[in-house]
Parts: sequence; structure tokens; C-alpha cells
Amino acid sequence: MRVGEPPGRIVVAALSKTFAGGIRAVDNLSFTVEPGSVTGFLGPNGAGKTTTLRMILGLVRPTSGTATVGGRRYVALPNPLRHVGACLEASSFYPGRTARNHLRVYCAHAGLPGKRAAEVLELVGLSAAGRRRVKGFSLGMRQRLALATAMLGDPPVLIMDEPTNGLDPEGIRWLRGFLRELAGQGRTILVSSHLLAEVQQTVDRVVILSAGRCVRQGSMAELAGGRGPTTLVRTPQVDALMAVLTSRGVGLTRVDATAVRIDGLPVPDIGHAAFEAGCEIHEMRADQADLERVFFELTSQPPSQPHVGPTYGQPPYQPPYQPPYQGPGQGGPW
Ligand SMILES: Nc1ncnc2c1ncn2[C@@H]1O[C@H](COP(=O)(O)OP(=O)(O)O)[C@@H](O)[C@H]1O
Ligand SMILES: [Mg+2]
Repeated sequence: MRVGEPPGRIVVAALSKTFAGGIRAVDNLSFTVEPGSVTGFLGPNGAGKTTTLRMILGLVRPTSGTATVGGRRYVALPNPLRHVGACLEASSFYPGRTARNHLRVYCAHAGLPGKRAAEVLELVGLSAAGRRRVKGFSLGMRQRLALATAMLGDPPVLIMDEPTNGLDPEGIRWLRGFLRELAGQGRTILVSSHLLAEVQQTVDRVVILSAGRCVRQGSMAELAGGRGPTTLVRTPQVDALMAVLTSRGVGLTRVDATAVRIDGLPVPDIGHAAFEAGCEIHEMRADQADLERVFFELTSQPPSQPHVGPTYGQPPYQPPYQPPYQGPGQGGPW
């Protein structure tokens, strides 16, 4: 254990994993996650997020490198359930068990009092369903039960793999508030997603992965590249607005017949320019697509060294990305 390491700090150092068959799922990955923040662990499907999280949790053995929580490897933590809560992709429950009994079994394993089950059900808003069998639960309810299970030991660290999958907008909004609150209590929250839009309002920092490598880490502001605000303005008089802004040297890009994207100009200044140009404003908002574009550019590059070792007949690695931006106004509530 490294002396003086905060218990909630996650340190991934030169971590690599090559699976049998030569798939280099994680490639010399290094990043740090600090307590008191929500960190988004982002990358397209197949980027290596789940493999990394499983290595942090001691479920996959690294080919090389280390992952520690509070200076120790997960398996060396004295009481891991009280230190790290985890929600992995496919949480499994005995279908015939009630939510409450499921949690009580975990309490017994972890040496926690049985009453903790009711407390975590309350915490995740599942109290009313505590005596129902898990087999009747919706996907969203299962996600909440997985989160309740992770919170049993009141851990300072919470790791979640794609927690928004299967959640409806209300569930996503609830999760967002929940994670912000946990971070506000000084906990470390690491949450993976293949969609920036689903987490961008929740996370303080991002670690972006592409083909097993870290392509960017830093705050959300740093991700935008210090370019200042980008605003999307919709007006029927888009040409007039563009003319007045261009004459003032403002950077802008036409989006379509009625919309323009404006770089670096504060919203009141845009409003004033529109007023002067006699433009009727139909929409004006911070442009999320800008961050999406950065994310897309960072993760859609083909890796320069996709493989180490033989591939045994597998086709060359193609990051199976999906274009994450889904059009204006559909960025999701996160
Ligand atoms: N157990 C495994 N055996 C072989 N290959 C695997 C295994 N788990 C993951 N992979 C491969 O490793 C790469 C990264 O997968 P994964 O970590 O699941 O990515 P993500 O969670 O970002 O979608 C993919 O190419 C995947 O097919
Ligand atoms: Mg995954």
C-alpha cells in the first residue's frame, strides 16, 4: 500500500489486457480517479471499458500493469464490500428471491446487520417493492437493486458499468441526482458509458478510451478544448444574423437553413446582435453537439497498433462505434 494514498483514489497504471487469441482489449492504460467527483469512463462499444473495470475489481487478471483503490489492489482490500461498491453490466439475481432477501443474503456475507437491507432499498427508492420477487422487476428496477447491493457496505468508492442502459428518462434523471449527491459526500464515482450525451451533465471529469487506449482525460471544460461556449441559434433570419456576427469577427458555422452555430460569444452578446439585426429568435441553447463532435473525433480514429500478437483468423480490429449524436434536442436529461 502506498502511504498517504486517499482511500477513495483509483489509480490505473500502465494497465494492459490481451485475451487469448491476441485481442488487446486494454493497451497501456493509465488514469487516476479522485474522490469527491463523478468521472465518466467513456468510449465506444468494444473500447475496453468493461475489461478495465473488471481488472480494477479483481475479476480479470491484467496481462501487465496495476489497478489500485486507496493504494491497494482490490483483492488486497481488507473488506472490499465496504470499500468499493460495484454495478457491473449483467447483474444476476435469483429470480425467486425478493429484493429484500437478496440484500439480506449479501448483508450476511459481508458481516453487515440485516437492517441495512431496508436502508439501501430506501436509498434507491425501492422500499415499496422490497417484498416483491425480483423476477417481476423491470430492467430499471434491477438497476436500482444492483445499485442498492453496491451501496450495502456504504463504500467510499462506487464503480458502475453502463448504468443508464435500460433506464427510462426519469430513471436517468434520478440516477444523475443520486450520483451527484454521493460525490458531494466525498465519494469516488466512476461510471462507464458508450454515450457521452447520457452522462455529460452528470460527470465532472472524463477518461475517454478508444481501442483500449486513453485518448483524453480531464474535466468537461478541458474536453471542449478551452474553446469557450458554443451556442446554437435558430432564426428565420439566419443570413442577417450571420452577416452581423461575421462583420464582428465571430466564428460561426451554418447548420441548416434556419440555424447557425456560434463559437465563443456569450449568450447576452448573441441576443444583442440578434436584436440589432432584427432577427426573430426561435431557439438559442448551449450546443451539446460540440462535445459530441470532440468525443466522436477522439474515438473514431483507427488505432495505429491495433494488435499485439497473433489474431488467429480474426478480422482486423474495427472499433464498432455508433455515431453518438442523435440530433438536436435528444441529448437526454443527463
Ligand atoms: N473474455 C474475453 N475474451 C476475449 N475477448 C474479450 C473478452 N472480454 C472482452 N473481450 C474483447 O475485448 C475488447 C474490449 O471489450 P470490452 O472491455 O467489453 O469493451 P467495452 O466495455 O468498452 O464495450 C472487445 O474486442 C471484446 O470483444
Ligand atoms: Mg462494456
